[in-house]
Amino acid sequence: MPHDALHEEARSDSSYMSEDKRGYRTREVDISMLKPASDDGVQLRLKGVDHSARPTWKLRETVTFYRDVLGLPLIHTISARGWGHPGHPDFLHFFFDAGNGATIAFFYYIGTDRPEKYMPEDSYFYSASHTAWSVDTAEELAQWKETLEGRGLTVSKFTKHEGLESIYFRDPNGYPLEVTRRLRDVEVIDAEDAALTIQAAIEIEDAAFAAGEKMRDIDTVWRRKAKLVEARVGDL
Ligand SMILES: [Fe+2]
Repeated sequence: MPHDALHEEARSDSSYMSEDKRGYRTREVDISMLKPASDDGVQLRLKGVDHSARPTWKLRETVTFYRDVLGLPLIHTISARGWGHPGHPDFLHFFFDAGNGATIAFFYYIGTDRPEKYMPEDSYFYSASHTAWSVDTAEELAQWKETLEGRGLTVSKFTKHEGLESIYFRDPNGYPLEVTRRLRDVEVIDAEDAALTIQAAIEIEDAAFAAGEKMRDIDTVWRRKAKLVEARVGDL
């Protein structure tokens, strides 16, 4: 089906009545129904982030913050009447240039109020959904912190975590933002280490679930990982 036909169909309410057609946005994915890439041998490729998007209920503040304070050019705005889903409000969807082809985008749903569940929280669950932008050097990262503070923003201290050094701040909606630089390249051994860590964690989680429990701590994972490393060394 050509793209335009998809949009035409989306305009009609009837297409939203079918649970089958809305499954891509209403159902959790059941991985037991999926096939691994190795089955068809097709290697899909990505070229990085095009955009991330979130809703905003603060139009003026959002544009002021991203365009005028951070200095990210406003490069595209889609304005549309509500379409598709019954009751869908008219909206603005606007994009700021975040460099290297990436944008950060917002939806402003006209006439809506912010639901309670979209209120910002001081919690790690909430902060886990964030946007991180990259810069190349320590000098650039320092310039971001100093400049944003000079413009009145509260910015975290420099935080080094493994291969990254970051600063953190929030936007007018409370959305967490990060500017980060790589401290070193990711090597082949990092991928091998990642595979072992994740394999150990999945094994521990499987065992915990089978016993009707939860995974309790990272030390248990590390002990399992150590056994996997020992087995690997034994194979060499
Ligand atoms: Fe991050």
